[in-house]
Amino acid sequence: MAILMDGKAVATKIQAKIADRVKEHKKAFGRVPGIAVILVGEDPASATYVSSKEKLAVEAGFYSKVYRLEANTTESHLLELIDELNGDTKIHGILVQLPLPKHIDTMNVIMAIDPKKDVDGFHPVNIGLLNIGVKGFIPCTPYGVIKLLEEYEIDLVGKHAVVIGRSNIVGKPMATLLLRKNATVTTCHSNTKDLQAICKQADIVIAAIGKPKMITADFIKPGAVVIDVGMNRVDGKLCGDVDFDSVEKVASHITPVPKGVGPMTITMLMYNTLQASLNRLY
Ligand code: GUN
Repeated sequence: MAILMDGKAVATKIQAKIADRVKEHKKAFGRVPGIAVILVGEDPASATYVSSKEKLAVEAGFYSKVYRLEANTTESHLLELIDELNGDTKIHGILVQLPLPKHIDTMNVIMAIDPKKDVDGFHPVNIGLLNIGVKGFIPCTPYGVIKLLEEYEIDLVGKHAVVIGRSNIVGKPMATLLLRKNATVTTCHSNTKDLQAICKQADIVIAAIGKPKMITADFIKPGAVVIDVGMNRVDGKLCGDVDFDSVEKVASHITPVPKGVGPMTITMLMYNTLQASLNRLY
């Protein structure tokens, strides 16, 4: 049976460290990290994520502001709000929850955020910094996966890591981070031929596909580490991209869904916001 990688427990531990740093920071500088979260529309999954982010920010001792805007909010209104938040000295991190309604150009919105406040790490400046290995903001989900792998002392050097999914939010930055850790990385996607054969060669499999329980035991080499980034709703229940029940019998380590990668993502958002605050002198 695989070792369960308890993202919830690791996230709680990091969260406690962040809360301590916030207290010290407040004592030394008389201010706390501030985060602004913007939600446009009423997508229930997005609304849940935003509420979790708000709750965790408050628990960490942050100043937190949530903007819940109507689905028909114009792009120019959103850009004006971002501009205002860019200039707000109480706010160190700005996050616009994705996906945005179709009438809004997501890239215009991301590019309007000051890269120094882009705690999601989605701005092209931060993506560029990540690619050349210079310090910037790292997208929270792949960053959380790396922290989890570190916590469980999974050695990545020279290992074959297979990332399934090539999104800007998860797959691409995940592959970059694994490469930075000296893994040999293969990125697979919907056009990949014989996904199963490629996965079967992997020492580490990262599933970020969006298809419930697609990765079964016959995709996994015995002893491989399996990280499930999937968040699918099936009959009102959350499930991952990995068929946990079969895969846990062959893998050496596995993350559950829920309580695996999800809690790590939100905690790394707090971590990035604390960093954004520490980076600033005012
Ligand atoms: N939607 C799904 N994941 C994310 C994320 O990490 N950040 C933002 N802003 N939106 C998301």
